[in-house]
Formats: sequence, C-alpha cells, structure tokens
Amino acid sequence: MALSLSNFLLPLALLLSSTARCATVTYDFDVGWTYANPDGQRTRPVMGINGQWPIPPIVATKGDQVIVNVKNSLGNESTSLHFHGLYMNGTSHMDGVIAVTQCGIPPGSSFTYNFTVDQPGTYWYHTHERGQYPDGLRGPLIIHDPEDPHQDLYDEEIVLTLSDWYHDLMHGLLASFMSVANPSGAEPVPQAALFNDTQDLAVRVEPGKTYLFRMVNMGAFAAQYVWFEEHTMRIVEVDGVYTEPMEADMIYLTAAQRCSVLVTAKNDTSANFAFVGSMDQDLFDAVPDGLNPNVTGWLVYDDSKEKPAPKLIDAFEPFDDFELVPYDQEELLDRVDHSITLDLKMDNLADGANYAFFNDITYVHPKVPTLYTVLSTGPNATNPIIYGENTNAFVLAQNQVIEIILNNDDPGKHPFHLHGHAFQVITRSPDDAGFYDPANTPEPPSTPMRRDTILVRPNGHTVLRFRSDNPGVWLFHCHIEWHVASGLVATIVESPLAVQAQLMDSIPSDHWDVCAAAGVPTQGNAAGNVGDLADLRGANVAPGRIPDGFTARGIVALVFSCISALVGLAVIGWYGFKPV
Ligand code: C2O
Repeated sequence: MALSLSNFLLPLALLLSSTARCATVTYDFDVGWTYANPDGQRTRPVMGINGQWPIPPIVATKGDQVIVNVKNSLGNESTSLHFHGLYMNGTSHMDGVIAVTQCGIPPGSSFTYNFTVDQPGTYWYHTHERGQYPDGLRGPLIIHDPEDPHQDLYDEEIVLTLSDWYHDLMHGLLASFMSVANPSGAEPVPQAALFNDTQDLAVRVEPGKTYLFRMVNMGAFAAQYVWFEEHTMRIVEVDGVYTEPMEADMIYLTAAQRCSVLVTAKNDTSANFAFVGSMDQDLFDAVPDGLNPNVTGWLVYDDSKEKPAPKLIDAFEPFDDFELVPYDQEELLDRVDHSITLDLKMDNLADGANYAFFNDITYVHPKVPTLYTVLSTGPNATNPIIYGENTNAFVLAQNQVIEIILNNDDPGKHPFHLHGHAFQVITRSPDDAGFYDPANTPEPPSTPMRRDTILVRPNGHTVLRFRSDNPGVWLFHCHIEWHVASGLVATIVESPLAVQAQLMDSIPSDHWDVCAAAGVPTQGNAAGNVGDLADLRGANVAPGRIPDGFTARGIVALVFSCISALVGLAVIGWYGFKPV
C-alpha cells in the first residue's frame, strides 16, 4: 500500500489543531439535601449541589476533558452521576450506573468522573441510583461545537429544561408504587410541570434575532407537548445528532429526549407570546382533580406589556420525529449481523406487586457490578450466563451491525434509551400494530433518524440498529423512572474482551474504594462467585412467579388475606406474650 507523505501530514495537522484548543473543565460537586418550591405549591427537600438547587448545568466544548469531583453529603442515600447520551468511548467505567459500571457512592464518600467529550450537542446528567433523580439531582449538559453546521442560522442559544414534578420524595413513592397495594402498577402522577425548574418563565428576546432553544426533558415520567404561540420551530438537533432543519409547530418530547429548535423573533415588539409545555395525560392511569398539566413561559419582547394566558388548542398534533434526516446523511445499516428481540410486558409476581419484563425476565441488579464481572472473568466474559439471569444480559461481538426489535405488549407508551450509542430508527409502528413483522413493514428510510431515546407506541413496536463499535457495558431501559424500578431494563455487554484490554489496568482506585465502603463485591459472576463462574447460586433474583391457575387478581387477593392473617397471628402473639 502506497501512503504519500501528504496523506499522512494532513490528518496529523488536523489532529494537532483540534487538540490545541481542548481544555480541561473541572466541576466540584458536593451533593446534599436542600429545600425548594419550584411550582409554588409546596416546599420539599431536594438533592442539590453545593447547597444550590436547581443544580448547575455542565458546559464544555467538543474535545474537552471533563472532570467532575463528586462528594456525597446526602447522609442517607448512595448516589452516582450518569452523563446521559455521552458515548464514553474508551471510558465506559465513567458511565455512572450503579450495579453496572460502578458501586453507589455511599454517604461520606467521593468519586471522580473523568472523560473526554468528542460529541457536540444537548445532553443531561442525572444520578443513576434507583429511582433517585426525580428528587432533583438532574441537570442539563451542553457540549458546544466550534464547527456547528447551523451556527450561522442563530444569534444566541437558550437552554430550556422541561420536567414533571412531585411533592413527595421518591423513597416513599417507590415503596407504595412497588407494592401489593398497587397491583395494577399505576404510576404516581406528578403534581406539576416545570420549565427551567420554575413556572411562568420569562425569556427576553430581541426583535429579528434567531434563538437556538436547547430543550431537554429531565422528567421522571411525563412526556410533554411543546409549542410556541405564533412562532414556528425549526428542528436542528435531536439527542446530540444534527438534523436537516425541519419545521414543526409542536413537538413531543419524552422523558430523557432532547430537541434543539430555531425560533426567530418577530420584527416588532407590540406583544409578548406564550410558549407551553403540556404533560401527556395518556400516560396517567387516573388524572387527579385539579392537576394543571401545563407549564407556561413567555417570549418577552417588551417588559411593560402583558403576558397573555396561553390559548386553548384543539388537538395535540406533534411533529413525528421519525421524519427527521440526520445532517451527516449516515446511510441505513442494512446488513444486520445480530438481532435481539425484546418483548415487553407488565405482570404481577408472587409478592403481588406489578413488574415489567423483557422476554419474561424482570431486571434485578447483580451483586457484582456487571463491568467488574467483565474485568474479573477472563475469557469467560463472553458467556452471558455469568451475568445472571435477572440482568437480561446480551453479549455483543465487536464491529457488527446490531438490531434491537422491541415489541410492546403493553397499552402504555414507553421512551427507550440505550447507553453508549445513538441508534438508527428503522421503523416505528402506530398504536396497536402488534409485534414486528418484517413482511408487513414499510421499507426503512435510506438515511434514518438517529437518537438515543425513542418512544414506542402502545401495543406497537420499533426496530433500532447500531454498530457495536464502542466496547462497554451499556443499559437499555425505559426512561420512565417507575419502570426502571419495576425492572424494564436489559444489559448490553459489548465486546467484553475489548473492554478488558481497554480498562484492565486503568480503573481508578475510587471505584474499588466506594465498593469497599458500601460492602459490595467486585470479583466474579453476578452472584459474586469466583471459582465456578457457572454457579449462580446466591444471585439476586426476582420474587417468584404466580403459580399456574392463579390469576393476578387472585394472587393479589391471596396476598392480602395472608397479610391480614399474619397481622391476626401477630396480634394473637402479642396478647399471648403480654405479661399479665
Ligand atoms: Cu438517562 Cu440509563 O439513563
């Protein structure tokens, strides 16, 4: 092969010029409880950073090294930080997922995240401890791009977060959600919606200027419809992927999705205009009386003019993100090497609570974080058995085209997120289309939309593809935090031998220190067995199945009567032991 000198010099020059401007961005985050009242209805404890809530945005430029020093001062809960949407290429141990890529940082301990960002766009960060981020430990993460292809189209950028909001702490809400008293699995309904962690947000705009609104839904549960009255949006980015600009009057943003839109201000200042986020109430089993599902903000052209109440709308008709075309025109991955089918359903287990399943398995976290199982099992790391039945582990070989077929056998909408990748969306069915049938599916687009979080519709399906070019342990899960708790999670173990080669000698000691402080083992299979790796005895498992012949309702009634019988026995015992 003939390599001319100029062929060699040009990439080198590019490399030098791009490394030259890279900086190190350092954040010192002391995570602790504080109080806030973002909806004006109730002051409640929230997880803040350095005594502040809302927590600060993380902002960096493409190419930067980002260091986040976390100290856990919560006192009563372990925590972690996950950087949602970052690929963490080569640093999968910095993905921040408890029981997957690290142990929880116990109260009083510290942990440093250190990674390089080589992808621009709109992201967010949140704790990846079970059910924790809706208590407030979630914020935007923005990576600027000196080569943004849309930079000539706008004058300024504005970060606009959306969230649902609960008045109660997750700890208590989770206990009642995952309970025999909630056999249908009805998710707690939020009390309010927020823009930038407040309501009635005023955004000052200047006539004629174009603004890039970087929208992030940091909610626990609710997707939101978003629209700007009498202003059209032009979508230019979703989930860190630049798109060809496309006009939209209304968008639909699920929990964890991001969308950047251009909004051009009018040329006169005679009025101010409302913009609205409206929680999708289809997600709620029952809508409580008095719930205001909307949050309002205003494009303020003139402070002295009124801020008009938003107008009623006739129908929710959002832009369909499946129509988007990525700016880089990446072509359809059309030769699939490995296909994974995940059938989603909800059902009760023998404890009477409602669980979520992929292929009849509900996720239960392993005793040993999955990444540490990869690192401590040598050549056996390619055997999915060792990761334990309840992690729903799929082992991928390197550099293959992977397809995930997701069949939703549930009447709910679910926003699915894959760590470590953006995926091409090959198809997405309408409601009630049933399971995927390739013979009955339209031709995929030649340049499919890519993103990292996708809505699958009620009793419908979607098909996703990506290339396994990023060794690591990556979760695939529903981003409704209630469904993470009920087990709607699978584990993708991508190129485990390559993970060993990358990380074997480079895991920082704070990884092992926080595990030691938390008393969590870091060697062996999912059960912590190091000798016979096929021996999963002692692994964490789900509650048993409901015996054949019992219906879910029947078992719930049975559990209830057992509980009352036990209460009865306990009372008898108490009286029996009572000294007379
Ligand atoms: Cu926002 Cu598992 O992530």
